[in-house]
Amino acid sequence: MPASTPAATAQPSSAPPSPAATASPSTDSFWTDAEKHLVRYGPEFTREVIDRAAGSFVHTADGRKILDFTSGQMSAILGHSHPEIVATVQRQIASLDHLFSGMLSRPVVDLARRLSDTLPAPLDKALLLTTGAESNEAAIRMAKLVTGKHEIVSFARSWHGMTQAAASATYSAGRKGYGPSAPGNFAIPAPNAYRPDFTAADGSLDWERQLDFAFDLIDAQSTGSLAACLVEPILSSGGIIEPPVGYMAALQAKCRERGMLLILDEAQTGLCRTGTWYAFERDGVVPDILTLSKTLGAGLPLAAVITSAEIEQRAYERGFLFFTTHVSDPLVAAVGNTVLDVLSADKLDERARSLGVFLRDGLTDIAARHEVVGDIRGRGLLAGLELVVDRETKRSSSELGARVTRRCLELGLHMNIVQLPGMGGVLRMAPPLTATEDELSLGLTILDQAIAEAEAAR
Ligand SMILES: Cc1ncc(COP(=O)(O)O)c(C=O)c1O
Repeated sequence: MPASTPAATAQPSSAPPSPAATASPSTDSFWTDAEKHLVRYGPEFTREVIDRAAGSFVHTADGRKILDFTSGQMSAILGHSHPEIVATVQRQIASLDHLFSGMLSRPVVDLARRLSDTLPAPLDKALLLTTGAESNEAAIRMAKLVTGKHEIVSFARSWHGMTQAAASATYSAGRKGYGPSAPGNFAIPAPNAYRPDFTAADGSLDWERQLDFAFDLIDAQSTGSLAACLVEPILSSGGIIEPPVGYMAALQAKCRERGMLLILDEAQTGLCRTGTWYAFERDGVVPDILTLSKTLGAGLPLAAVITSAEIEQRAYERGFLFFTTHVSDPLVAAVGNTVLDVLSADKLDERARSLGVFLRDGLTDIAARHEVVGDIRGRGLLAGLELVVDRETKRSSSELGARVTRRCLELGLHMNIVQLPGMGGVLRMAPPLTATEDELSLGLTILDQAIAEAEAAR
């Protein structure tokens, strides 16, 4: 690979780029340019140059077709470049793109009203933003303002985003090296039924005792300023951990006893992914504040904070401020309306339920064939498969997970692996809700082969 191609030839940084420098780089120079000019912001980049994406597949520059079992970044629930989203973006960008943040447009008010129609009372008021972190940032600010307190409780395996308040409530990664997090953030253990830390006589997770103990510790540490609990109904980046039935209601009771608000972050689980419009529907709870992001824009940057008129009123009276450049932007709000149209018209909640059963059955077959599959979990089209070296001890190996993920990619399946201390590698699957059974079967076949090969190589 030449160190310096015409496209990469150095120019003074103040000079305008030449046509050659703006032309699409060859694949040869692509990685040289990427290494030279991109900040590395997380795990290694996937060594593929992606040219385009459509439906359930992404296509590489060298002509490979890769099944996208992560829906982009767990967002593209309608698949890539869904024709109705393409039409909405084209129409909206040509008529009304972006506005002064204090101006309103029809797509924004329509989306706020329509979101409230999909939700139980009293979740009637929406703030439309851009990213998941931003929605949690706004929800935390609102909770602090209306309670007059500042302490925030979250799961020890959480991921709520990379901005200050969201990152302070994120415990699964990224805490070290950035100085103090916001004061008054506390973690409670995530209720992990596969690796229970509090056990009943039969060895199963005793989540009630775990939750009581967790809040004993919270009460011991609190300075009397508990504002809110911010949690995911199913922890995704934490390794697809689904709290048992009854847990969320008990958590909400703990919040109520302490005058705390319950904020549910449905960035990944919201809008039909788990087989119902919202994952919290299973739990018989209604959060005080709900945050939506990823799935709401189906791949475009759109997020929402939704709360009751009562909380909104209290926040308003206290001067709630969350004035951002892209708040209430018409372009992405129009996309959100189209996402709701497609979800309803195509009954994608039902589809996620039935495809979820199909996926689960396929994963169960794989587990029956391979000893290294320790656990299968998840709901609807959000699934997790935990790899272990030994089913008895549940011992893990990061090499095993890395090997399976790598081989899947070579065979044409993109998946994400969660590797956290004390757990095996958890393969996360969240295909588009529009995926077909044939596409899911293809993914399962590739996964089966990759696991078989990794097992044989041990
Ligand atoms: C549950 C959850 N909340 C919030 C976020 C942060 O979203 P964003 O990256 O859009 O800020 C994520 C991202 O993975 C997430 O999974």
